[in-house]
Amino acid sequence: MIPRVILHNSASIDGRIDWLTPNVELHYELAAYWRADAQLVGSETILISTEEIPEEADPNVEDLAAQQPQSPGDTRPLLVIPDSRGRVRTWDMLCKMRHWRGAVALCTHSTSQDYLDYLGSLGVEYILVGADLVDLRAGLEALHTTYGIQTVLVDSGGTLNGALLRAGLVSEVSLLIYPCLVGGTTPQSFFRAPDLAKQAGVIELDLIAVEQVRTGIIWLRYAVKNKPE
Ligand SMILES: NC(=O)c1ccc[n+]([C@@H]2O[C@H](COP(=O)([O-])OP(=O)(O)OC[C@H]3O[C@@H](n4cnc5c(N)ncnc54)[C@H](OP(=O)(O)O)[C@@H]3O)[C@@H](O)[C@H]2O)c1
Repeated sequence: MIPRVILHNSASIDGRIDWLTPNVELHYELAAYWRADAQLVGSETILISTEEIPEEADPNVEDLAAQQPQSPGDTRPLLVIPDSRGRVRTWDMLCKMRHWRGAVALCTHSTSQDYLDYLGSLGVEYILVGADLVDLRAGLEALHTTYGIQTVLVDSGGTLNGALLRAGLVSEVSLLIYPCLVGGTTPQSFFRAPDLAKQAGVIELDLIAVEQVRTGIIWLRYAVKNKPE
């Protein structure tokens, strides 16, 4: 069994996530709606966002190892990052941010032993799924089996969203649409994937809810109707 997977993005009317300055507080306030027990974050999103975090340690934080999957009363989500190439080296800093109750890396059988040793030295757990790229279905299954994960909120750019959508793993799509148009020819939408070869690949959606959450900002929620063929 795989957990319920929800994509949640802030985008322009033309579906782009670049050149946009989303209201981050609103984005995460609404993300809390699903009470997800895991947050799946693209490695690129993490690499970009941690560039902005100051490096100095917070003296009040616990050891990372002490924060691994733990007390039943802790409702914070588990942080999960697919990182086949072992690029994320900020796990200690991420866990010290206290947004998550623990952290798990999704790696592959080709991820370097050096990186797996680095994760081990921090007490970050990892799951090996896939040969080169992370096998997302197997990773989601393992999250359910190993950690009992029921609901995964995806916090990523178009690449991870695209891989999940094309693999038929997404249950719900949530979009905060900002009243602006970006335009451009680079593929910077919240859904990046190879062009379709046939109509059957179009993912049909059922509207669940539409709400104006701030002046001009529309929150759209859709259930995925069909899985791509
Ligand atoms: N507006 C919003 O709501 C919003 C939200 C989040 C992020 N963002 C923005 O999005 C940008 C980053 O997005 P991005 O699209 O470049 O990267 P991303 O989606 O954050 O990261 C790509 C992820 O997809 C994985 N991946 C790629 N292809 C795969 C496949 N075929 N199978 C399995 N896993 C696969 C990669 O794993 P590997 O590392 O193993 O390759 C990586 O973890 C940033 O600028 C960020 O600020 C916007």
